[in-house]
Amino acid sequence: MIRVLLLVTVGVVSSVEALKCHVVAAGNLTVPDTSQPQECGLGSMACVKIIDFTRNTYSKQCQNMNCTMNGLPNAVANCQNTSTFGMNGATCCCYGDGCNAAPHFGSLSVVGLSVAIVSALFAI
Ligand SMILES: *[C@@H]1O[C@H](CO)[C@@H](O)[C@H](O)[C@H]1NC(C)=O
Ligand SMILES: *[C@@H]1O[C@H](CO)[C@@H](O)[C@H](O)[C@H]1NC(C)=O
Ligand SMILES: *[C@@H]1O[C@H](CO)[C@@H](O)[C@H](O)[C@H]1NC(C)=O
Repeated sequence: MIRVLLLVTVGVVSSVEALKCHVVAAGNLTVPDTSQPQECGLGSMACVKIIDFTRNTYSKQCQNMNCTMNGLPNAVANCQNTSTFGMNGATCCCYGDGCNAAPHFGSLSVVGLSVAIVSALFAI
């Protein structure tokens, strides 16, 4: 019975093409994120992660447009530092299921970039 359920679940998951992202409304940077990627709504293009170093918090969500960089649309996956109103933060954007997983984003750009390239290849 369990095996059947598992097969059904895998079948359903792999037949759905919606993007999956980690979705965390308000996370604590000192606590590892154990969330599972969730299916984004139709039209979602990228996953984002917004980090607030001042408060040591983060949030993660789906984004229904492509990544931007320096205000330009359709950018590759990237992280940008933001410091406004005395708040130090970073915004990371990436393409691909569950790509906004890691709370640290040092290696993310490399992974995100290759995912972006792969998605770009598939888009052609
Ligand atoms: C984050 O977690 C740490 C350790 O559990 C705690 O000391 C801190 O108050 C938490 N910060 C926030 C913003 O919840
Ligand atoms: C995002 O980028 C893809 C591939 O470059 C493009 O086909 C799509 O129209 C873009 N979507 C938006 C909402 O900008
Ligand atoms: C962004 O901020 C982090 C943490 O303060 C720092 O380590 C990193 O070098 C900064 N990156 C850029 C591109 O400014």
